[in-house]
Amino acid sequence: MAKLLGIDVGTSGCKLLLVDEQGRVLKQASAEYPLEVPQPLWSQQNPEDWWSGVQKCLAELREPSPDAIGVTGQMHGAVFLDERLEVIRPAILWNDQRTLEECAQIDARVGAAAVREITRNPPLTGFQLPKLLWLQNHEPENFSRLRTVLLPKDYIRFKLTGGLATEVSDASGTGLLDVAGRRWSAEMVEILGLQEAWFPECHESDEPSGETNGQGGVTRGIPVVGGGGDQAAAAVGTGAVVPGVISVSLGTSGVVFTSIDEPNYDAAGAAHTFCHANRGWHAMGVMLSCGGALRWFRDTLGGGRSYDQLAREASGAPAGCEGLTFLPYLAGERCPHNDPLARAAFAGLTLAHGFEHAARSVFEGISFGLLDCLNLMQRLGASADEVRVTGGGARSSLWLQMLADMFGTPLKTLETDEGPAFGAALLAGVGIGLWPDVRTACSSVVRLKAEIAPRASEYAEAYARYRALYPATRAWNRL
Ligand code: XUL
Repeated sequence: MAKLLGIDVGTSGCKLLLVDEQGRVLKQASAEYPLEVPQPLWSQQNPEDWWSGVQKCLAELREPSPDAIGVTGQMHGAVFLDERLEVIRPAILWNDQRTLEECAQIDARVGAAAVREITRNPPLTGFQLPKLLWLQNHEPENFSRLRTVLLPKDYIRFKLTGGLATEVSDASGTGLLDVAGRRWSAEMVEILGLQEAWFPECHESDEPSGETNGQGGVTRGIPVVGGGGDQAAAAVGTGAVVPGVISVSLGTSGVVFTSIDEPNYDAAGAAHTFCHANRGWHAMGVMLSCGGALRWFRDTLGGGRSYDQLAREASGAPAGCEGLTFLPYLAGERCPHNDPLARAAFAGLTLAHGFEHAARSVFEGISFGLLDCLNLMQRLGASADEVRVTGGGARSSLWLQMLADMFGTPLKTLETDEGPAFGAALLAGVGIGLWPDVRTACSSVVRLKAEIAPRASEYAEAYARYRALYPATRAWNRL
């Protein structure tokens, strides 16, 4: 029976999953690594930390010869390499907001309409392309050494194979891909004075991209398949590869994702339109601080409590938190506001509020952010008949019930909730011909676990307060 390895290079750590061709998890390993925040709204990591984490997990798995490997990971980051293919500076990540000016520069130089026509998205601060221009504007010395720019998971592919390659779902999040044509935009490369040679060859997500070269304790000659950005791979892992199945991913970021037939630009510029890993396209709404906000709350105000303790105490406060509202924009926000300067807030505090209200308001605030994203997907025509949930948060019954109540729709959990790593393993299987296509892979091995039925929502008023809070804070965020 074939063994498939999925490698997920996440933000808080990496996760490796070994699955068989029936989709059963045989082994898994994970490792954490640090995040650098050298100043507010900056976010960086050392790519060597990702590789050390992956090597540690490979050693723990003790499976040097899987039949194929699929890679996935945090999207949008910029790994800058010099002519010796060495890292020039820490990678700038998806939730870094330093590139507001460079986004304006892209619109001015390429033309706002042309950028949207080619990439099917506005230029956003988190995307990779503005980071490249930031390097040029702010670190010219480093920029002069640049020969290659990779996405995070593709750095791990490079370590495993020695080759420079990417695939369409993650490349869509650079802001330089011709999303309808599924290739780099030569036009934008030229207008912006960049060089095509800096960008790795771009494959379909289910296509082999190279073979292992013996590094990291993996046997030589094992096919490494394209894989996917973590959201496209998570969608494969949940079976969200056909329109009508929405996947919700509860990780550091929070994402509501739907497959679409045509790569149409969202006229309001609020949702992303990217290539999917199934050779089609997808739309998604991404909030930057979802589980990340919970982690911040636990680490700064939680007084040593675990996530489980936070959830237990939060369930002691009533829905709506007696007027207390949490706005989760700790790292600015992408969807639906596309506002790098947005800030988080607790609003409506009184002497009657205790820790349990604060904890619950964080769960409610991040859930309202996801509801905003769901509404965005529905505005684009997605039906929310089937909503599947994945990611670490899918293990919290308080959170799942809250989301089901707010969405007013049943939520389904999956037997394997390690969405991205599982999806990457399935893409690896398609790449070596175990299944003819991604859809067949999903219908063969993605299994549902439980269904959470919605109860009458008690959140209408609290959601109205939440919606009113961002416009109210917007002005003083800019003072
Ligand atoms: C997706 C996004 C995040 C990162 C980190 O657009 O920015 O989901 O991929 O997980």
